[in-house]
Amino acid sequence: MRGVSEREKHLPNFTLPELLRIMHEVKGIISLSAGEPDFSTPKPLLRYGASIIHKSTHYTPTQGLKELREAICKKLKRENKINASPENIVVTTGSQEAIFASLLTTTDPKSQVLIPNPGYLAYLPAIELSDGKPVSYKLEEKNNFQPNPDEIKKLANRKTKAIIINSPSNPTGQVYSRKLLEDIADIAREKNLYIFSDEAYEKLIYDDEKHLSIGSLNGMKNYVLSLYSFSKSYAMCGFRLGYIVVPKNLSEPIIESSHFLTISPPHVSQLMAVKALSLSDRHIKKMVRAYNKRRKYLVKKLNEMNLITREPKGAFYAFSNIKNVTKKKSYDFSQGLLKKARVAVVPGTEFGKYGEGYIRFSYATKLFLIKKALERIERYLR
Ligand SMILES: Cc1ncc(COP(=O)(O)O)c(C=O)c1O
Repeated sequence: MRGVSEREKHLPNFTLPELLRIMHEVKGIISLSAGEPDFSTPKPLLRYGASIIHKSTHYTPTQGLKELREAICKKLKRENKINASPENIVVTTGSQEAIFASLLTTTDPKSQVLIPNPGYLAYLPAIELSDGKPVSYKLEEKNNFQPNPDEIKKLANRKTKAIIINSPSNPTGQVYSRKLLEDIADIAREKNLYIFSDEAYEKLIYDDEKHLSIGSLNGMKNYVLSLYSFSKSYAMCGFRLGYIVVPKNLSEPIIESSHFLTISPPHVSQLMAVKALSLSDRHIKKMVRAYNKRRKYLVKKLNEMNLITREPKGAFYAFSNIKNVTKKKSYDFSQGLLKKARVAVVPGTEFGKYGEGYIRFSYATKLFLIKKALERIERYLR
């Protein structure tokens, strides 16, 4: 029978596409829902990209340009304390492809993969589309949205192949401590599991927090696939570039999966990424300063409005508890905000069922718009 596959029909219904449609069709909505920087790619990178575009018309090796993999290795050593060789790097079309390629290479049909809930909304469909079984571990507000290692340990069984972790985290903005990462590392070793460590927001970090890569911990090299992105650090979402640091035995199989997913990552983006890694941190610091200012303002105001919000320490999201201000479900509350207050936010359930009772605010939006949006929300709540 012709028609849509059962696999596709089985995927959860996300509201984000509908949200994006309404935002384009209805004028005057302020969006606090963005999942990408509001900044443009730094000018030196754009200028460089324009100057080399004529050299970028061909595929590259699937694994990525050698000069880029060499530059990535230097960055990993300097910033993530990960010693990798260019053979262990696979450049991908965004870290989204990295998630897929990692799953396709390490899991079998019906393999279980543990995912954070609430967690980045692409994990669950990526596992289902690769015929695996997503199993949620809970991130609870009372634990500051940190995973509970005892729960992870209990959930890991014979069919479990991997644990996905994400710090700094989307949607909660929380950052995992060394102790927590060490506990998760112990579980992976004991139960012989892979860890996919999604570090897309590694550079967006506030206060005295430090980003720590689980792949840098002793003895973890063969267990961890570390996933990185140029999207958030360099505001290069549209250039679609990420990379994976893989255990030695996985390089060839991941390159194979990646080849049949995309043949190669975009050529011009790879040359721009080499340039990006040679720049000083000035551009990143400038963005982080702006995010930080917005973060402080947003979180203070939300708490004043009784939308209880733990202080996020990374990424550009605040995850707010709505239970003090409404009896509505997250979806209905965010629809009310959209239609009556004309402010777009993302219902917590978009990130899994344990996101019920929460909404996600993004502060990848100019401060004056955040202020205006919060005034509207305050009026709506009154
Ligand atoms: C946690 C997380 N991982 C991965 C991605 C994918 O990013 P990209 O494919 O642009 O690298 C996103 C995008 O929002 C994200 O929030």
